[in-house]
Amino acid sequence: MNVPKPRDDLSALAGYHSPQVDVEVRLNTNEAPEAPPIEFSNAVAEAVRKVQWHRYPDRSAGELRSGIAKLHAVGAEQIFAANGSNEVLQTILLSYAGAGRKVLTFEPTYALHTHIARIVGATVVSGQRDEQFGIDPGEAAQMVKQHQPSVTFLCSPNNPTGIVDDPSVVSAVLNEVSAYGGLLVVDEAYGQFAPHSALELLDGNPSLVVTRTYSKTWAMAGARLGYLVGDPRIVDQLEKVVLPYHLDSATQAAGIAALEFIDDMDDRVNTIIGQRTIVEQGLADLGCTVWPSGANFVLFRPPEQNGDQVWSELVDRSVLVRNTASWPRLTGSLRVTIGTEPDNARFLDAMSDILRGS
Ligand SMILES: Cc1ncc(COP(=O)(O)O)c(C=O)c1O
Repeated sequence: MNVPKPRDDLSALAGYHSPQVDVEVRLNTNEAPEAPPIEFSNAVAEAVRKVQWHRYPDRSAGELRSGIAKLHAVGAEQIFAANGSNEVLQTILLSYAGAGRKVLTFEPTYALHTHIARIVGATVVSGQRDEQFGIDPGEAAQMVKQHQPSVTFLCSPNNPTGIVDDPSVVSAVLNEVSAYGGLLVVDEAYGQFAPHSALELLDGNPSLVVTRTYSKTWAMAGARLGYLVGDPRIVDQLEKVVLPYHLDSATQAAGIAALEFIDDMDDRVNTIIGQRTIVEQGLADLGCTVWPSGANFVLFRPPEQNGDQVWSELVDRSVLVRNTASWPRLTGSLRVTIGTEPDNARFLDAMSDILRGS
């Protein structure tokens, strides 16, 4: 029997996976360490009880978009919401990339940018970050000028390195992109942990969009909700491309309810930042190379670059981190999500056990 063949350009593509191993301490996917408050769950349950299940959801997600818009002091017509920021990224690339168009990334960065760009048939051009995983504004602008990509990605704080791009990088790239009408996407999935945001540069420029997610700081990875802030003309275009009624009523209700718990989110961010310092220091004390993080995770390299082995030994101790040891430019490194205080202590104890044999 003949097995149907996928597109030639997709058959060699590896899927995007983060292994789901059954362990006691899960620090591998940059989720929030704790659930949102019970008052949030109750508010969602109450809202879901009122959902008219026989009706399609509000197609324009009006109340949710207005709420998010208020949070960022912009108009609702500047917000596009979707099932996780991954769907936002996919809709951007479906609309503005595709066959015959280029997408520029600065590696190493979030793998989905390249992955989705390839799925939509675009040509990916990869710039490289420097030794410390920073981006030189002049070189980045030069790459944009040379390739004139339809879509350029920055990711700040960057996954998996945790580095926050200097505002001069974003400005330099934006200037260049604006000159020929390209689109700069600044992925700020971890934006609330960072000292500054590209949102400050929006200022009516249609060439910039900033994406955010409810999965991390909002502690709502289970809901699948993300959004972008950008020019209304870009938002209109994305609405034409995304499937009708893509955002279900329960997700919209959860997103609206969360906006009443901003103080909890801010507290969570501060706690995580405090714990991040402890984890960074603990890893450095154990002789690991640690990259400064502006996110809720830390990239580190154990001594002798034996990330693979350390990863396995952590799993033996029921602690799961992201194994980045074989990723290009990240040889021997691992990425750990900041968890609860006991989880972080357990991780550091396990690391000490492995590296010092004590
Ligand atoms: C940089 C970055 N962008 C986007 C996402 C996607 O997040 P979600 O689809 O859960 O909103 C992630 C998830 O890990 C990420 O690290």
